[in-house]
Amino acid sequence: MRILITGASGLLGSNLVLAASDAGHHVMATSRTRPVQLDGVEWRAADLIDPEGAGALLAEMQPDGVIHCAAATDVDQCEDDPNWAFALNRDVARHIAVSAREVGSGLVHISTDAVFDGSPGPHAETDEARPINVYGESKLAGEQAVGEVHPQAAIIRVNFYGWSPPGRSSLAEWFLENLRQGKPRPGFTDIVISPLLVNQLAGLLLSVLEAGLSGIYHIASHDAVSKYELGVRLAQAFELDSSLIHPANSERAGLRAARPKDLSLRVGKIERVLETRMPDTNVGIADLRRLEHAGYRERLEALLLEHAG
Ligand SMILES: NC(=O)c1ccc[n+]([C@@H]2O[C@H](COP(=O)([O-])OP(=O)(O)OC[C@H]3O[C@@H](n4cnc5c(N)ncnc54)[C@H](OP(=O)(O)O)[C@@H]3O)[C@@H](O)[C@H]2O)c1
Repeated sequence: MRILITGASGLLGSNLVLAASDAGHHVMATSRTRPVQLDGVEWRAADLIDPEGAGALLAEMQPDGVIHCAAATDVDQCEDDPNWAFALNRDVARHIAVSAREVGSGLVHISTDAVFDGSPGPHAETDEARPINVYGESKLAGEQAVGEVHPQAAIIRVNFYGWSPPGRSSLAEWFLENLRQGKPRPGFTDIVISPLLVNQLAGLLLSVLEAGLSGIYHIASHDAVSKYELGVRLAQAFELDSSLIHPANSERAGLRAARPKDLSLRVGKIERVLETRMPDTNVGIADLRRLEHAGYRERLEALLLEHAG
C-alpha cells in the first residue's frame, strides 16, 4: 500500500515509518522540520496547521491510506494554550480527514485514552467519553470531526511507550534513563494505564489499515498497570534498582492540567475483529529490552536528520 504517515518525527510516527517500511509498504512521511531519511521513504515538510497544507499534501501524495499521528501532545501546554490544542487536535484532524476522503484514501486517526474522565475502568469504546483537561477535550473534538467527515475512518485510542527518536522521551525512557544514573524518581500509584510497546502498536495499526476497519477501537495492552508499577517492572526487566522508584500521588505533583486516574482500556473489540490477543505489559517490556540489544535505537537515531535547512 501507499501509506502516508503524519507526525513522522514523533514517537509513534517514527516507529511507524520503520515498521511500514519493513513490512514492504511504499511509505510517505511528513513532519514540520526534521526530515526522515530512509531508503524508499518519500518525505515532505508540511505545517499542517496551515489550512491548505493537508489538502495539498494528500493531492500530491495520493496515498491509499493515511495514519495521522501529528498532534499537540504536551498535556500541560494544551492546558495553557487551548487554541493551539484545538487547532492541531481538532481542526488539522478534520482537514486530514476531508482530504483523505477527497483522494479516496483510507484513514487511521490516532486518538487517546485521555478522552475518559478517569473513573474506574477498564473503559470500553461504548462508554461515555468525558475528558477532564484541554488535551482530552481537543482529542475528543478531533474524533468527532473525523467521524463526521470521513465515516470510513478508523479512530484508534491508544497509550504507548517505546524508544524515541533523539529529542523526545517516552515514559519508559524517562524511568530507564534516571534509573541508569542511579537517580530516585516518583512513580504515580494513582494513575492506571494500559500501555502498549510502540512497535506492537505500529504493527496493529498497519493491520487496521490493511483490513479497512471503520469506527472507534481501543488498541492497548491486555492488562493494566499503575505508572509506579510500570516503572518497577521496567527496572526489574532491565536489571536496575527498582527501589529507586518511590510511590507517589499525582495530585501532589503540581501538574498544571488535571490528570484522569484510571485510563485502562477494554480491548475485546479489536481482539475479536483482528482475531488476536493484545500483548500483556510484561511482553512489551521484554521486547523493549530485546530491541535495545538488537541496535534498534541506532536505527531510530539514523532515521531523522536534524533540520530541513
Ligand atoms: N505518547 C502517548 O503515550 C500517547 C498516548 C495517547 C495518545 N497518543 C496520541 O498518539 C499520537 C502520536 O503521539 P506521539 O507521542 O508520537 O507524539 P509526539 O512524539 O509528540 O510527536 C508529535 C508529532 O506531531 C508533529 N506536529 C506537531 N505540530 C505539527 C504541525 N503544526 N504540523 C505538522 N506536524 C506537527 C510533530 O512534528 P515536528 O517534530 O516537526 O514538530 C511530531 O512529529 C497523538 O495523536 C497523541 O495524541 C499518544
